[in-house]
This record gives sequence, structure tokens and C-alpha cells, in this order.
Amino acid sequence: MADINLKGRDFLKLLDFTPEEIDYLVNLAADFKKKKQDGVLVDHLRGKNIALIFEKTSTRTRCSFEVAAHDLGMGTTYLDPTGSQIGKKESIADTARVLSSMFDGIEYRGFGQDIVETLAKYSKVPVWNGLTNEFHPTQMLADLLTIRECFGTEKGKTLAYFGDARYNTGDSLMVLGAKMGMNVTLCSNPEYFPDPKLVEECREIARKSGAVIRLETDPHKAAKGADAFYTDVWVSMGEPDEVWKKRIDDLSPYRVTLPLLEEGNEGCIFMHCLPAFHDRNTGIGEKIYEKYGLTEMEVTDEAFESSHSVVFQEAENRMHTIKAVIAATLGYEE
Ligand code: CP
Ligand code: NVA
Repeated sequence: MADINLKGRDFLKLLDFTPEEIDYLVNLAADFKKKKQDGVLVDHLRGKNIALIFEKTSTRTRCSFEVAAHDLGMGTTYLDPTGSQIGKKESIADTARVLSSMFDGIEYRGFGQDIVETLAKYSKVPVWNGLTNEFHPTQMLADLLTIRECFGTEKGKTLAYFGDARYNTGDSLMVLGAKMGMNVTLCSNPEYFPDPKLVEECREIARKSGAVIRLETDPHKAAKGADAFYTDVWVSMGEPDEVWKKRIDDLSPYRVTLPLLEEGNEGCIFMHCLPAFHDRNTGIGEKIYEKYGLTEMEVTDEAFESSHSVVFQEAENRMHTIKAVIAATLGYEE
């Protein structure tokens, strides 16, 4: 753990990190989690401040950055999707130069990966990707910590992802598995498979780790041998409402159900980055019910609430892992 130094690094996508660096961040997060449980203060970054830019909404990521920063002794400024000049009156390059003259780190959640990459290019301080259309790297660290807590290791385990596999979560899980030696099966309608170039790149990376990256259209074949089942919303933030009908038609066969979980390995877990549409208790969930008669979407309520489900443990781990990213890149020393 001691040989790794991430001070000054951006955290934009897992492709930029070695398996050893990813391992280091997850171990640091586990250490922070234990310290938090034991009431040990870690406010070694007192006097530093970070900016949190959210061009899309958030519960977990925003709260994780804020709580993690406060635990580390830092101040935070939240810029919401409407309350700043970003993109409308001021370019990303100018924003980066302004914010990095005032803050010690910048989180960005928004649209294209190119935006966060530009922000990082012009920023003097570390930039952290809090989700783009293409990648969700902080989510991956929380998922890896959760898998380790459940199984001891990710090596040789199989994660099966069901649903929209060509977006941030599916893409990122494939990279995570390839790097860390965890088999990943992406199960969907072929229209929702990831960019073939990214699949090829991940298979190349996986040659070293021993992971098997599989694309599958049959949910039963994907479920067989799976240790972790994972799904995400069928329509992501920033996508137009008009796509709902086709998504429902295309992705309903890939809903995670309790009988499907029972086709997995003994002790298999259910994961979801959240938020999830597993009942009608949300504004969108209710609208979908009124329009299409569906009471649940990517996962049934029964599966979501089952003993397989580790989704809230996974959500808590967002905070500990984001704390590790902030601390490591800003040069936390015990
Ligand atoms: N999983 C996740 O990123 O949640 P939020 O959208 O609430 O941040
Ligand atoms: N794919 C989802 C992930 C939310 C955490 C989205 O982009 O909306």
C-alpha cells in the first residue's frame, strides 16, 4: 500500500488506473470505514476546500462528497445544475482555471466524458468524475468494496449485469472486472451492448488479469454461475422521455427477478447503483405506471427487498470510497 502515491492525480475513469492503484483506493476506503465506525477522526485535510459541480441531479454522490470532505476537515461549495455560469456563459476551460485558483479539488457530474477531461486539462488541482454519460468511476470503487465485503475477493467471481449495458454503469463495470480479474457478463438486447471498441480494449486488459468479458442475450445463461447480479435504470439522466416506450419493450426481458437470482450461485448478491425503479413510490415510477401499467422496471420489488440485496451497503460505501479518492489525490497523510 505504501508504494502507491496518487497525490495530484485526477480521477476521471478507471482505465487511467492500474489494478494496484484501484486496490490501494479500496483498501484506504475500508480503513476509513473502520475508522468512522470506531469514531476515529481523519480530519487531516483541514483548511482545504473543494468545489462540487453537478450538471445532473444526485443524492448519493453529492452527499458522499460533502460528508467525506467534512470528515476530512474540508469545506465544500455545491454548484447545482442551474446556479452557475458553467457551459452557458463560461466555458469549461475558463471555469477550470477560475475554480482551481480557489479550490484544492473539483468534482464534476455531467454529460460527455470530454467535458470532465477538458476540466481536468485546464485545472491545476485534481478533478474527480462524479458520473458522465460514459463512466461512473467512483461508483465502481464502492461496488468493489462491497463485493470484497461479501466474498472476500473479486478475483474469479462473476458479475452479471442486466439491462442498459451501453452506458456509464455497464461500461464501467466491464472496465472494473477486466482490470481486477472479475468475470463480467453483460446481458442485454444487442442494441444495448457497449461500444465494440471498449469491449475489445477491456478484453485486451482482461488477458492480463484472467477475467472473462462476455456479452449475452439470454438472461438464464447469464444468471448461471453468477455471484453478483447488477442492474441500472433503463433510461439514464439526460435522456429524453420519448425513449421510455422502446426501452421498456427492449429491456423488460432483462428485468432482475427473484427466480432469476435463484438461478445464480449459492449466496449470490443483488447490486444496483441506485436510484432504482422497483415500485411505484417515485414520481417517474408512478408516471410509468399510469402510461404503461408497469409497477416495477429494471428490478422487481421482491428481488430488491430480498436477502440477496446489498444495495444499501453499496450506497454507504460510496461515501467511504469517495473519501479515499479525495484523500489519496490531495495527499492525505496519517
Ligand atoms: N449511484 C449514484 O450515483 O447515485 P446518485 O445519482 O444519487 O448520486
Ligand atoms: N445510468 C444512471 C446511473 C445513475 C447513478 C444514470 O446515468 O442516470
